[in-house]
Amino acid sequence: MENKLYVHGYSNRETLRLNDQAATLDDIIHSDTIFPKGSHILEAGCGVGAQTKIIALKNPDSTFLSIDISDESIAEAKLMAKHTDIKNVQFEQADLYNLFYEDETFDCVIVCFVLEHLKNPAQVLSELKRVLKKGGTIVAIEGDHGSTFFYPHSIKAHKAIDCQVQLQKQKGGNSNIGRELFPLFQSAGFENTVISPRMVYVDASRHNLVEGFIKNTFTAMIEGVGEQAIREGIIDKQTFEKGIKDLYRTAEPDGVFSYTFFKGIGTKK
Ligand SMILES: C[S@@+](CC[C@H](N)C(=O)[O-])C[C@H]1O[C@@H](n2cnc3c(N)ncnc32)[C@H](O)[C@@H]1O
Repeated sequence: MENKLYVHGYSNRETLRLNDQAATLDDIIHSDTIFPKGSHILEAGCGVGAQTKIIALKNPDSTFLSIDISDESIAEAKLMAKHTDIKNVQFEQADLYNLFYEDETFDCVIVCFVLEHLKNPAQVLSELKRVLKKGGTIVAIEGDHGSTFFYPHSIKAHKAIDCQVQLQKQKGGNSNIGRELFPLFQSAGFENTVISPRMVYVDASRHNLVEGFIKNTFTAMIEGVGEQAIREGIIDKQTFEKGIKDLYRTAEPDGVFSYTFFKGIGTKK
């Protein structure tokens, strides 16, 4: 089954981008993604397995069930696990709105860059809570495009970023969901919620982030929605192209770029 509502689509380029994003952000978002030994963990919305390969290796004494609505992504994730010799993960096609697992099946749940694409993230959180054991932990990691700032300043770059925000909103998603993790966890009834903002600050002294984050993760993501945004009249071609050029400009030796991810941890009472 394919999920047409996923704003970035399922192209090879998007697979590369998700892998670049995961590898670049490994330390910033996953340094503390360590589950108790022996846990059985649900990874909700695993995509092509870009996060899976990081968290599965960090938790060799736990087992994962990694699920996604896209058959195509699941097939690719399975290939990734085969090639990287990851043995503690099973992959399965499933819809987060309607999980076919018993109540209280999993010790922990992790959901990464998925809630932002959902029409009803509250409903999915409550479904994830249902399959989580009492005392179990949920981890959610999301971005927030409103947290983006950079030097040199460019209104056109902000307009290009806003194309993604608008398109995601049209599809029922929310690119600024990071700031809403706390209220979403509260409404879902999770206890002991702690949100930790993870700022990615990049200047020329951080070479790997200049390539891996400014260029291959963030700007590649915005560039990917250009054709559709122009086609739908959200922006004109010239403004979009200048906006993208200005985003790449922040990767020059005097440039600065900053973005904040939000990582939420809560427990089920
Ligand atoms: C941005 S990708 C993130 C993938 C992966 N977590 C990562 O960080 O690389 C969002 C994923 O959510 C999946 N998704 C969207 N709606 C879903 C649903 N209702 N059930 C399961 N997966 C869903 C999409 O198919 C896509 O693979």
